[in-house]
Amino acid sequence: MKHLALRVIGEEHAALRAVLYSLEEVAQKPASTLVAEDFEAMRAMLVYIAEYPEKLHHKKESEALFPMVLARSHELKSVIKELDDQHERGESAVWSLMHSLMLWEMLGSGRQKTFVNELKKYKEFYLNHMKVETEVVIPVAEDVLTEDDWEIIDSIFALNKDPLTGHQPSLEFEGLFRKISSYVSAHEGS
Ligand SMILES: [Fe+2]
Ligand SMILES: [Fe+2]
Repeated sequence: MKHLALRVIGEEHAALRAVLYSLEEVAQKPASTLVAEDFEAMRAMLVYIAEYPEKLHHKKESEALFPMVLARSHELKSVIKELDDQHERGESAVWSLMHSLMLWEMLGSGRQKTFVNELKKYKEFYLNHMKVETEVVIPVAEDVLTEDDWEIIDSIFALNKDPLTGHQPSLEFEGLFRKISSYVSAHEGS
């Protein structure tokens, strides 16, 4: 059976991918159709990315999965170093997007294109990051890690699961997740 950690990584990557695509879709709406609710949803999605994938998902990878893989094999030393560096830079990239979004909201549609371009770059960077984890790191992890290693990694990945993958958010984040979910379901297919 697939290890729990790998299922969690798959689900959390899927949740992040979905949010990145939703964010891009909202950001590309014609300026004349955008309302305050759209900006609120984009802000909520960026806060989600900063607080969940950037803080919790990455932490689990950088502190549990990657060191265990490196302890068993040096094959991916440079790949993992690059992924760790990307984890380090990720959160500030989100806050820089938030800044750009605020400039658009406050200064008007002349700033929309800048935000959309920055978002597209961030999305590509992130999709590629997840692809390397899934297609390069995980196959090696499956080869080199022992059952005991997986037991430790699984127990860490079982903590702080992303609420957008169907897990109960902590009280603090309940409002944020309700906002994103209700916005996305109200605009599905529109
Ligand atoms: Fe990662
Ligand atoms: Fe990841």
